[in-house]
Amino acid sequence: MCGIFGYIGKQKTAPTIVLDGLKALEYRGYDSWGVAVVPVQQSGKQTIVVKKKAGKIGNATVTELPSGTLAFGHTRWATHGGVTDINAHPHLDCTGTIAVIHNGIVENYETLKAGLIKKGHRFVSETDSEVIAHLVEEYLKRFTVSARDAAPAFSKAVQAAFNDLDGLNAIILINTQADEMVAARNGSPLVVGFGNGENFLASDPAALLPHTKQVHYLEDNEMAVVSRGGIHIFDAKTGRRIRPRKQQLTWTAKEAEKGTFPYFMLKEIFDQPGMLSEIAAESTQQAMLLAHELNTAPRIYIVGSGTSGYAARSASYLFATVAQKLTNWSSPTEMHHHIDLLPPGSIIVALSQSGETMDLMEVVKRAKNNGTKVMSLVNVVGSSLWRMADLTLPIGAGPEKGVASTKAFTAVVAQLILMAHAMKNDVKTGQRLVASAAKAAKEALKPERIDQLKRIAHELKAVEHIFVIGKGLSYSTALESALKIKEISYIHAEGVAAGELKHGPLALVTKGVPCIVYAANDMHYQSTLANAMEMKARGGYIIGVSHKPDEVFDEYIPVSDVGEATIIPNVIVAQLLAYYLTIERGFDPDMPRNLAKSVTVK
Ligand code: G6P
Repeated sequence: MCGIFGYIGKQKTAPTIVLDGLKALEYRGYDSWGVAVVPVQQSGKQTIVVKKKAGKIGNATVTELPSGTLAFGHTRWATHGGVTDINAHPHLDCTGTIAVIHNGIVENYETLKAGLIKKGHRFVSETDSEVIAHLVEEYLKRFTVSARDAAPAFSKAVQAAFNDLDGLNAIILINTQADEMVAARNGSPLVVGFGNGENFLASDPAALLPHTKQVHYLEDNEMAVVSRGGIHIFDAKTGRRIRPRKQQLTWTAKEAEKGTFPYFMLKEIFDQPGMLSEIAAESTQQAMLLAHELNTAPRIYIVGSGTSGYAARSASYLFATVAQKLTNWSSPTEMHHHIDLLPPGSIIVALSQSGETMDLMEVVKRAKNNGTKVMSLVNVVGSSLWRMADLTLPIGAGPEKGVASTKAFTAVVAQLILMAHAMKNDVKTGQRLVASAAKAAKEALKPERIDQLKRIAHELKAVEHIFVIGKGLSYSTALESALKIKEISYIHAEGVAAGELKHGPLALVTKGVPCIVYAANDMHYQSTLANAMEMKARGGYIIGVSHKPDEVFDEYIPVSDVGEATIIPNVIVAQLLAYYLTIERGFDPDMPRNLAKSVTVK
C-alpha cells in the first residue's frame, strides 16, 4: 500500500529526486510521508537526516535537507501506530546512522521489540517498522570488524534482520558507512531500476519511468544491494547470488502524467475511447490461445477484488451468454471454501489492475499448489500476478493512478468480450463490439453529456442514498457504479439486482430517493422497466440509462446500444457521475479517505 522510492547516484539532489518519486507514488498510500538522506561527507561523525510529516505530500519540499547522493523515502498508509509525524517513515536506529523504510506488517514485532529493549535500544515511534532499524543496528555490531567490511557487514545485517521478521514485508535500509541501499522483499512489491551511474528502488514501476525503463522485479525472499556502480541480487535465505532478470517497461512517463486535467481520475475516464480503439485493433492471437485453454478446462473460476471483482462477475455472464461456458466468479477473500475443490485441469483466471493485490495473490498461490492452472489478466506487465501465472494477457489500459479504477475496468471488460467471442471462434464479432464500445464511450463523453451529468451531480449532491439497479450484465454495471459513487463521493450507494428489489431494498425507497436504472437492450429490458416502475410507485426518482427514453424515467441519459459491450458506456456514465458528485461535495476524487490504489497487505 505504501509508496517507496530510493536513489543512489551522482546527483547531489537525491532528496528532491526521491520527493518527486514519492509524489508520483502518493496514490498508493498517503497519510504521511518522509525522506532520509545520507549527507555529502562532512568532517566528524555523520548521521542520517530525516524530514517526515503526517498528512498529504501535496506541495511539500525538501530544500532544507542537506545535499546527498543517497536518499530514500516513503508515503505511509498506517497499519501499526497512529498517523503522526513520529510514526511516519523513515525510522532511525539509536545511533541515527541506520534508517529503514518498510511496507507490510512485522507480525512478531512485539517479541522482537521486547528483546531489543532488554538490550538497551530506545524506541521513539509506535510502529512495527522501527524494530527493523534496531535489529539491523544489533546485527551490525556483530558483523562489522573493520571499516573496510562496512558494506558486506551491512548487507549481512539486513539479511539476518529480514529473516527474523514474520509476515509479508518489503524493507529498504541505508546507513552512513556503506554507500548502498539494501532491500529485501517477501510479499510486498519492490522493483529495482537500472540507470547509468545511478540506480533506483521503488514499490511501483510507474515511479521509475522518468529515470529508467530497465527493471528487475524482486521475487519473494530476494535481496538487492543497490550501489552507484551496480545492482546485485541475492537469495535472502541462502545468500546465493542471482542473475537479474531485466525487463523493459513499456509505458512512457507522459502516459503516467495528468496533463491538463485537474485530476487523474478525469484524465483516465477520458483515456477510454482511444484505449478501447487500440484494444479492438490488437492482435487477437493470444486471446485465441487463451480461449482454447478456457474451452477445454472442466471448470473456470474468475477472481478479482473490488472493481476487478465486478469485471470477474461480468465475465461469468459473458462466457455463459456468448460462449455457453459455465463460469464461476468470486472475490478472493470468499474463495477459500471452494479453491481446494476444483477438479484437475481447472483454470483460475485472476483479474487485477496492479497485479499486486495480496488477497488475490494468496488464492492464486494456493491454486497453483493444488495444480490448478493460473491465467492472469493484469494491467502491470511484470507484476507479481503476471509472473506467477501459467498464461497471461496484458489488459492494455496504460498507467492508472486514480484510486477509483476506471479505464482498467473497461479495458479488462473489453478483453473479456474479445475472449468470450474467441471462445466461440468468432473473435471478429468481439472486435467489432469493442470498436463500437469505443465510439459509444466517445459519445458518453461529449460536452452535452458532461453538462447533463454535472447538473445531475449538483442536484444529487446532498442525498444520503442512491440505488442502482440492473439485471444480468447490467447488474455488474450497477454494482460497479455503486462502488464508484460510494468510494469517492462518500454517498451511500447500493447496487441491486433489479429482480431482488422487492425482496428487501424496496423498503428503503421513499419519496425522492434517486434510483439509477440500467435498461440495456437485452432480454431483461422490459422486466427492468417494470422494476423501475415499482420504485417510482414508492416515490423513487428514476434516472434511466438506456438506448431509448421511457415514460418511467424522470431523467434520461442516452447511451448507445452496442450489444453486450453496452456495459462499457454504461459504466462511463457512472464514473462521470461519481466524479462530479465528488467535486460538488468538495472531496478529492484521486485520493479517497481510507483507501489505497494497491492493497498489498492482508
Ligand atoms: C483496491 C482499489 C480498487 C481496486 C482493488 C483491486 O481496493 O482501491 O480500486 O479495484 O484494489 O485492485 P487490482 O489492482 O487487483 O485490480
